[in-house]
Amino acid sequence: KRLILVGPPGCGKGTQSPILKEEHCLCHLATGDMLRAAVAKQTPLGLQAKAAMDQGALVSDDLVVGIIEEALKRPSCSKGFILDGFPRTVVQAQKLDAALEKQGVKVDKVLNFEIEDSVLEERITGRWIHPASGRSYHSKFAPPKVPGRDDITGEPLLQRKDDTVEVLKKRLSSFHEQTTPVIEYYLKKGVVRNIEAAKPANVVTQEIQKAIS
Ligand code: AP5
Ligand code: ZN
Repeated sequence: KRLILVGPPGCGKGTQSPILKEEHCLCHLATGDMLRAAVAKQTPLGLQAKAAMDQGALVSDDLVVGIIEEALKRPSCSKGFILDGFPRTVVQAQKLDAALEKQGVKVDKVLNFEIEDSVLEERITGRWIHPASGRSYHSKFAPPKVPGRDDITGEPLLQRKDDTVEVLKKRLSSFHEQTTPVIEYYLKKGVVRNIEAAKPANVVTQEIQKAIS
């Protein structure tokens, strides 16, 4: 399966992706996670991406398309993938289609996580992440077994630099202005399935299973 997860910040893309990955043996490509890793390592890519990310703006299409094109060449991605947070502009969607066409494949489903903006502040400000794996927790909705520690490695959890009320507002406007047209783009191709993302995480998981089966 070749899946795209699209939705605003905090809608649950990063929570649902690992579950899908496990169940369907897909590779999980999250541009946000990849960019944060590059920023942490201070690679040339990370240095270029950091300012936009800190402000809640999108990183340039060329940078993210480059990352995804590289990643899609991995043998582990040949059987199927989950794109989490990509494409986020129509240009990115067109370039993805062009790259897939060369491989003779196409996107099967685009899962559109529908949720009101008003719910997202609590989700974002309560989130804690384990940077090395990308696992996310929530102080109220998905607390770790030991406060402040990753369930699997026991390593400390951190809050994302862009998870503030201020930056969230910018991320939401980036989403509405630049990413809503991506949903239109895939609607025309008939591959969009809407997911009610405000429901509890386990219910969302079930909805996704139905949408992709
Ligand atoms: P990215 O990392 O992709 O951030 P985002 O799209 O803003 O999405 P989030 O990761 O914030 O939300 P999520 O949907 O994964 O939510 P989660 O499951 O963690 O991008 C970051 C930045 O990188 C961008 O701003 C941009 O600068 C750059 N970037 C990335 N990709 C790019 C691209 N393609 N082009 C250009 N720039 C790009 O859940 C959130 C919280 O809620 C968690 O605490 C979780 O435990 C909890 N939760 C999840 N589901 C539920 C539920 N159903 N009920 C209750 N709580 C829940
Ligand atoms: Zn995420």
